[in-house]
Amino acid sequence: MILKSILKKDNLDKFEISFLLSLSDKKDIDLLYQRADEVRKKYVGDDVYLRGIIEFSNYCEQDCLYCGLRKSNDGLERYRMSLDNILLTAGNIVKSGIKTIVLQSGEDFLFSKSDITNIIKSIKEKYDVAITLSLGERSREEYFEWCEAGADRYLLKHETANPKLYSMYHQGQNLADRITHLNYLREAGFQIGSGNLVGMPHQTNDDVADDILLCKELDVDMCSISPFISSPSTPYKKKSNCSVEYVLKTMAVARIVLKNSHMPATTALATLDIEGREKGLQVGANVIMPNFTPNPYRKNYLIYPDKKCLTDDPMNCAGCLSIMVQSLGRRIGVDKGHSLKKDFISI
Ligand code: 5AD
Ligand code: FES
Repeated sequence: MILKSILKKDNLDKFEISFLLSLSDKKDIDLLYQRADEVRKKYVGDDVYLRGIIEFSNYCEQDCLYCGLRKSNDGLERYRMSLDNILLTAGNIVKSGIKTIVLQSGEDFLFSKSDITNIIKSIKEKYDVAITLSLGERSREEYFEWCEAGADRYLLKHETANPKLYSMYHQGQNLADRITHLNYLREAGFQIGSGNLVGMPHQTNDDVADDILLCKELDVDMCSISPFISSPSTPYKKKSNCSVEYVLKTMAVARIVLKNSHMPATTALATLDIEGREKGLQVGANVIMPNFTPNPYRKNYLIYPDKKCLTDDPMNCAGCLSIMVQSLGRRIGVDKGHSLKKDFISI
């Protein structure tokens, strides 16, 4: 049977990846999921890493057609957290036993190079944690300084590997520039995370196959695959959400192709399906990123509606996730969960 022989192969080409993404028979999809789970177990093991997110500013200079934080959305109350508040939130993440802090914001240039350096150094002085930055595109010089200041990882999703769709979703910007930035980040010394949105308007299986192959080519340390969720204050407000099955299939194929990259079960997946995180962990994911953004800011980091955990107390998150992870026969990783690629293993 063609499916079984593809699933046994070590390297998949675009045609085979597209074929796997197009599977529709429940039994076939189950075989795909099983293979992804085997590959996950073999290459990344049973540890599930938690990364605590602080969404410290929802200002954004960009105008992505799909994103609720887009500059043109003037219905959104904007905020910036102070350094003290960021440090307090970092303390809550550490108290929960989590060893990675993800600093995320829109593209907000009011936070200067030295502001971000100061945040990184202040966190690193106080806490023994890894820091991931997710601040959008900044200058090459800034990337170098922030890595030097102690930041470990940078998450910059390519969003789509189709250059035409990239320019359409992002106000005429170029995919090639995005890739240049990912290369700068690598050069600066970061572990890099990229990834894409699936179930997007106008996107095909071939486009998603290219997304996975681009992550392979970039040899990403982490790959984040999110389902598109229609956001009411954007030009895509009338478009349909990605199906849960489609994002799970994409994650499964990505795990089979990428082997030892970290892969989160995203908050967007948990938003679409109350058991989304569990399902994601069973088709290749090995990371969960609980949100620690404090109130009253949390409700305004509204990339898409009904975001999961909008009202939960973040301090309960780690305990509740730990129970869920154990119920799947997995365990919470106790170290920083650095990249599994060999260059970073000793860090
Ligand atoms: N649905 C799902 N994910 C989205 N993102 C932005 N808009 C949406 C949406 N409507 C994701 C992008 C971005 C991350 C911060 O949120 O992939 O990189
Ligand atoms: Fe902010 Fe897309 S709208 S980066």
